[in-house]
Amino acid sequence: MNSFDITNLQTELYNKSPRKILRTALEQFDNIAISFSGAEDVILIDMALQIKKKIQVFSLDTGRLHAETYRFIEKVRKHYQIEIECLSPNALTVEKLVKEKGLFSFYEDGHQQCCGIRKVESLKRKLSHLDAWITGQRRDQSLDTRQEIPEVQIDAAFSSTNDSLIKFNPLVNWSSAQVWDYIEAYKVPFNLLHQQGFVSIGCEPCTRTVLPNQHERVGRWWWESESKKECGLHVENIKS
Ligand code: ADX
Ligand code: SF4
Repeated sequence: MNSFDITNLQTELYNKSPRKILRTALEQFDNIAISFSGAEDVILIDMALQIKKKIQVFSLDTGRLHAETYRFIEKVRKHYQIEIECLSPNALTVEKLVKEKGLFSFYEDGHQQCCGIRKVESLKRKLSHLDAWITGQRRDQSLDTRQEIPEVQIDAAFSSTNDSLIKFNPLVNWSSAQVWDYIEAYKVPFNLLHQQGFVSIGCEPCTRTVLPNQHERVGRWWWESESKKECGLHVENIKS
């Protein structure tokens, strides 16, 4: 797809509903997958299955997710009778990091290296076999890094020199409240961590609960500045 097409597609999808964006994504691409974090982005799976019976779903299993998140991923797999590809990081690279810096190096020198090894490498591997991917990013997730996310974009970080990888963000125009309305209305299963005060959920050592009215991103990598709170999956959200 060339840049002219993506501009037209973005114009067509601007401000549209998650369902419309998702339907367009699934109609335009066969080799497309949903990137499922094990949190409230489960609604993408619920909506996608109403549009198409066979969908591709993957999760980046960093090895550091909460026990509740592993249970939830399994619950979703059984509930929807779908395959969820759980991608593990390269064992040798993880072993080297842990041997050199221990299991909690991110508290000392930032999360980029560990995220790079445990998430980004696996994502790169998966994306190299796809034409497009679908994320659950929303603008309301961050005032610092997610305000300008478009409905559809060329993924500048993971496209190859020959082929553009297309990234769809069907939930961008929805608020957290709309997502939770959907979960309640359609009886969508959810991660039990949400009942314990967790809002944005990532890896266990890098996620904590937030107080009422605190922004959800406060619960992620809380020892780092807001503008750095992207782990490399969505690196184009960080303006240099
Ligand atoms: S993160 O970059 O800060 O970790 P966030 O948790 O907000 O991302 O999730 C935004 C979207 O990124 C999710 O809806 C999902 O599409 C993708 N994502 C994040 N973490 C994972 C994961 N572990 N596995 C698969 N996709 C993920
Ligand atoms: Fe490592 Fe934390 Fe990133 Fe998970 S979120 S990959 S534990 S730095």
